[in-house]
Amino acid sequence: MSNFNIRSFIFATILVASVLNEVSADAVALTALCTTYPKIPACDLYASCTSQSRSSGPCDTLSLTVSACADPLALGASQCTSANTAGGTAVPSLPTAKDASGFVASICMEMPDMSDCQGANACPSRNTTTLVSDCKSLSVYGALCLEMPNMNQCTTVWKTFCSSNANIGPYCGPVVPGSGSGSPNSGSPSSSAANLFVAVSLALLVFFTNF
Ligand SMILES: *[C@@H]1O[C@H](CO)[C@@H](O)[C@H](O)[C@H]1NC(C)=O
Repeated sequence: MSNFNIRSFIFATILVASVLNEVSADAVALTALCTTYPKIPACDLYASCTSQSRSSGPCDTLSLTVSACADPLALGASQCTSANTAGGTAVPSLPTAKDASGFVASICMEMPDMSDCQGANACPSRNTTTLVSDCKSLSVYGALCLEMPNMNQCTTVWKTFCSSNANIGPYCGPVVPGSGSGSPNSGSPSSSAANLFVAVSLALLVFFTNF
């Protein structure tokens, strides 16, 4: 290989790798957004998806990005103005931070002795302006509803969320290890390595076809 051909080969590899990485742009935006707002329901859910290696249904990164950016708490976040959410649909019946905080506050006002209304993970009083509680409100809401599924704060949104999203744990039932299909984060090192492998293969093909 002459120097020129090696350079062309490296250039082709970088070009193909960049094109392939475009696919994971929403995952990159979601990860950045969730670093800033880890407690909003879409980010709480994304963290569960990641730990369960789930990437479809409620764990689809595009759907999670649409839901996260539709939450008034994250509205106007820079990661949302740059995220490409075209063609994406929100995770069905996923409550906003305000709604989940409201359900938790209402259940805990009615049943203050429930264990999830107490302790380090319990939701504190809501901010009087935003009506959002500084806690993982979806996790607490799910835990409360699993314990008392027939409370009227659970019979609408929680039940619909669960039936629409394959009863995803831990919100709707137990976490089923290995229930996922692949990595939820297309930007993870293993997918990047896979993308690079594809890029190198395509670059080799281009190289041997053209030179
Ligand atoms: C409540 O939320 C508003 C708007 O985000 C914020 O400015 C304020 O500091 C919050 N109040 C408390 C007590 O955290």
